[in-house]
Amino acid sequence: MKGPESKNPDGRPSTSAWQRQFPIDTAEEAKQTRRQFVAGAAVAGGAMACGQLGLQLVAPAATAGQLTEYGPLDVAAADDLGPGDALLFHFPDEHTPCLLIRTAEGIVAYTQKCTHLACPVVPDVEKGTLNCPCHKGAFSLSDGMPLAGPPRTGLSEVVMEQRNGRLVATGIRTPPAG
Ligand code: FES
Repeated sequence: MKGPESKNPDGRPSTSAWQRQFPIDTAEEAKQTRRQFVAGAAVAGGAMACGQLGLQLVAPAATAGQLTEYGPLDVAAADDLGPGDALLFHFPDEHTPCLLIRTAEGIVAYTQKCTHLACPVVPDVEKGTLNCPCHKGAFSLSDGMPLAGPPRTGLSEVVMEQRNGRLVATGIRTPPAG
């Protein structure tokens, strides 16, 4: 059975692997109720150096909301991700898609569901954003906070650790409440 067609915000059919994996059913999406917004506050960026392999795990949400720890999930080898690469994984359960992304500053990870109406966001590493094609939402790659469109709450950070050359997810940190 053919799934819903995914389109870019400008109306062109989607061509990226991300959009093919997460097609947007605009008719179904329109039925969803609008979620309550919580105004986000700016978060100061921070970074934690990880000596192994010269990679940094960027910890953007040092002053952010609540951290919930989960059993560790081995996501990838630290050197699996080249500059600009992104990897989809699920954490802490199979219903929560997350993105591990290597930016110029290091490695970041966020939950993938847009905080507006839960469409999957797509990274644009060159522009430093995570874009939501449903309503042209955009989030900062450096701290997950909303930059454009309807989202008012940032993406949750997936807390990553580097263990013996592996990138391991250990928790989810919510964005700060406004
Ligand atoms: S779902 Fe509306 S901007 Fe993402």
